Amino acid sequence: MKKVYWIGYSFMLIIVVFSVGASNEQPISYEKKTPLPFMIPKGWPSLPKNIFSKNKLTEEGFQLGKKLFYDVRLSKDNTISCGSCHQQFASFANYDHDVSHGIHNSFTNRNAPALINVAWMPLLHWDGAINHIEMQPLAPITSPNEMGEQLDEILTKLKNDSTYKRMFASAFGDNVISTPKILKALAQFVGNLVSADSKYDKVKRGEQQFTAFEERGYVIFKTYCNGCHTEPLFTNHSLRNNGQVLNKYNDIGYQKITNLRKDSLKFKVPTLRNVQLTLPYMHDGHINSLSQVIEYYSNGIDTSSLNLDPLLKKKILLTPKQKMELQYFLYTLTDSSFVKNPRFSFLPAVVK
Ligand code: HEC
Ligand code: HEC
Repeated sequence: MKKVYWIGYSFMLIIVVFSVGASNEQPISYEKKTPLPFMIPKGWPSLPKNIFSKNKLTEEGFQLGKKLFYDVRLSKDNTISCGSCHQQFASFANYDHDVSHGIHNSFTNRNAPALINVAWMPLLHWDGAINHIEMQPLAPITSPNEMGEQLDEILTKLKNDSTYKRMFASAFGDNVISTPKILKALAQFVGNLVSADSKYDKVKRGEQQFTAFEERGYVIFKTYCNGCHTEPLFTNHSLRNNGQVLNKYNDIGYQKITNLRKDSLKFKVPTLRNVQLTLPYMHDGHINSLSQVIEYYSNGIDTSSLNLDPLLKKKILLTPKQKMELQYFLYTLTDSSFVKNPRFSFLPAVVK
């Protein structure tokens, strides 16, 4: 509680400082930032690269990033925010949308992935096209079928907002609003979306136990799925061909990046944390339910397909009971406290 008060208090201080200096266009210094330590959950690997080395995490930077994430002014017609396609209740995926939905009722070719534990991902996007969390927002912001906006226009909109001036100053030391700062703040918010409190995690921490049904599902998971959806992040971050066929958008996946035929239809292995909440599934959202995904792995893969990953060349034969057990294990990866956590919500938390 003490910390909350302190943050509230420092905000009041900032308000006082900046209501005095608001009309002044000179950069204003404000150095009293609240450090935000990045916590690695117990048993998890360290970050593959220190994405925050040039972007010091602070509470003020996180709060600014959150405001930007939910701000429709980042889109051309002020209708779409990052949060429109990445919804907290769906683990920051786009619930019930096969491909995601941008301005002017336009659609992308891909399903919006869950934004959790992104800080651990060496590559972003389904085809691994982006390699840094700070660069990523440029794609949706400028793409005509997502937010369709120009960075200069966003700067103009935000510069007219005195709350932003104040928040940029408290996050970055001066009130000059710039594109690099917008990208850094968004990275602070998105990078802090850490989900590590599912039943699976509680079992690993010795606080709960799997049911016998879930336990058997876990064994099946470790036999057939863990090779790619590797614990504890439930992805090994590689790009693999899991037997999908070319869709109507001719999305060849990783081949688009490398130009190599051997990379045809390889996609980034998605995390299975919160997978119960992120339907529909796969890079184009063409599978609607988890039971259908399991059915796909069990009966739907063309195992003679040339580019299919060696791990899936052998048929995964599961009885109906085993399929249910696997599904129940996947349900244990749901972190309900994360999707309800007011810290990540659109509405500001009520501080009592
Ligand atoms: C119109 C819907 C839409 C909007 C708006 C949108 N995104 Fe996304 N987001 C997507 C889709 C679709 C992908 C997958 C893109 C791909 O694979 O080519 C994605 C991918 C991502 C990823 C990579 C996740 C991963 O696992 O690889 C991050 C991070 C992300 N978005 C953050 C943001 C931020 C920050 C904003 C706001 C500046 C934003 N998104 C706005 C739809 C959207
Ligand atoms: C060879 C690596 C590999 C193995 C083994 C594997 N998967 Fe996958 N999985 C992937 C890839 C790659 C994707 C994404 C494919 C796409 O988007 O087209 C994926 C997607 C999924 C998705 C969709 C998730 C989402 O957010 O859209 C689920 C669910 C899933 N796999 C479950 C499983 C289960 C259960 C098993 C074991 C029976 C398994 N996978 C085995 C590579 C693998």
